[in-house]
Amino acid sequence: MKTQVAIIGAGPSGLLLGQLLHNAGIDNVIIERQSPDYVLGRIRAGVLEQGMVELLRQAGVGQRMDREGLVHGGFELALDGRQVHIDLHTLTGGKTVMVYGQTEVTRDLMAARREAGAQTIYQAGDVVPHGMKSAETFVTFEKDGQAWRLDCDYIAGCDGFHGVARQSIPADCLKVFERVYPFGWLGILADTPPVHEELVYARHERGFALCSMRSATRTRYYLQVPTSDHVDNWSDQRFWDELKLRLPQDLANKLITGPSIEKSIAPLRSFVVEPMQYGRLFLVGDAAHIVPPTGAKGLNLAASDVSTLFNILLKVYREDRLDLLEKYSEICLRRVWKAERFSWWMTSMLHRFDDQDAFDQRIVESELEYFIGSEAGRKTIAENYVGLPYETIE
Ligand code: APR
Ligand code: PHB
Repeated sequence: MKTQVAIIGAGPSGLLLGQLLHNAGIDNVIIERQSPDYVLGRIRAGVLEQGMVELLRQAGVGQRMDREGLVHGGFELALDGRQVHIDLHTLTGGKTVMVYGQTEVTRDLMAARREAGAQTIYQAGDVVPHGMKSAETFVTFEKDGQAWRLDCDYIAGCDGFHGVARQSIPADCLKVFERVYPFGWLGILADTPPVHEELVYARHERGFALCSMRSATRTRYYLQVPTSDHVDNWSDQRFWDELKLRLPQDLANKLITGPSIEKSIAPLRSFVVEPMQYGRLFLVGDAAHIVPPTGAKGLNLAASDVSTLFNILLKVYREDRLDLLEKYSEICLRRVWKAERFSWWMTSMLHRFDDQDAFDQRIVESELEYFIGSEAGRKTIAENYVGLPYETIE
C-alpha cells in the first residue's frame, strides 16, 4: 500500500487532519487500533474554542455542530459559595465557545470520512512507524492475521498519550516535562437538565466541582477525588450529595439529579514532549501533550496542532516549501505551553491541595481575588479560555 500521509490513530486529531488533507487532494490513510464503536464509546471533553469551531467548518463537518451545539458567551466561577460571572463575549471583544461533545465531533468526522471514501483501517494490530529519518518512510501493521506495509511521505502520530508514535522516537532525542496531580476527576453523565445555563467551575474546601453539559437535556458533572479513590465507592446518591455540598446554595437547591449513564475517574496530568517531531514523523494532540481538564484545552490543542501540520503540508505539497517541515514543533509548542500554563493555573486556583499550608491557601485566595477583581485579570482568564490565536504559516 502507498499513500502521501500515513496517520496513526482515528481520534479527533487523526480524523480532522485526514479530512482537511483529503479535501485538499492530499491522499492519506488512517490506521487505528480500536473499532469505531470503541472510539465513540469514550466520553471526553465538551468545550470547543472558536478556532476549533472554524477549523471544523473549514473541514466541512460543522453543520450538525452549528445546529445542535450550544454557544456559550460566558461561564461562572463559584468561589467558596460566591458566584462570579466571567463574561467571555464582552471581555474578548465578541468571542465565545461552543459546547459540543468530543464524541459528536468524532461521529461527524467519521461520517464525513466514510462519505469521502477515504480509507481508515480499524482494529489494526502492532502498528509500527519506520524510516522516519530516511527517504524510505513506512508504517507496518497487522490486520486480520495478515502483515501489511504502508509506504508514505510523512507520518502523523495522532495516537494519543499511550500511542506508539512518541514511543518509537529514541528517548535521548526527546525531553519530557511532566507534573502529575495528587487527585483525579470523578465524572458522571446524566440525562438531566443543566443546573445553570453556563458552565460552573466551583472552588470549595471539600474540593473542586464542575457543572458542564452536552445539551439542554444531558449533563456532565465532575468532582475532585483523591487519585486512590475508585468509582465503586461512589453511588449516584453519594455523587449528587457531594456535588450539592460543593455548589453555592441556590444552585444546589436547583440541581436536578437522576441516574448516571456513565461514571469514571480520570487522573490529572500536565505533560509535554519536546520536540514534537522526529524526521518525517510529527506528533499531534495527546501524543505530544496532556493538560489537566480544568481549562478545557486538551481537544482544542489537538485542533491547533492539526491546523499547523495541515497548513505546513499544504505548502509542502503545493509550493514545495520543505523548509516549513522543521518549523512544526516550534510553532506548536509556543501555543501548547501557553495552554499548559493556563490549565495548570486554573487547576492550581480551583482545586484543594492537601499539602498546602495556611499561608499557601491565603496566597491562592488572594491571587484569585486579584484576578477577578480587576478587568485586566478577568480579560486574561477570558482570552485564554476562548483560546489564543493560531499562528499563520508563511
Ligand atoms: N496504533 C493505532 N492506533 C492507536 C495506537 C496504536 N498503537 N495507540 C492509540 N491509538 C488510537 C487510540 O485508540 C485512539 O483512537 O489513537 C487514538 C488517539 O485518540 P485520542 O486519545 O482521542 O487523542 P487525540 O486524537 O490527540 O485527541 C485529542 O485531547 O485532551 C484530549 O479529550 C481530548 O481525547 C482528546 C484529545
Ligand atoms: C466537559 O464537559 O467534559 C468539560 C467541560 C469543561 C472542562 C472540562 C470538561 O473544563
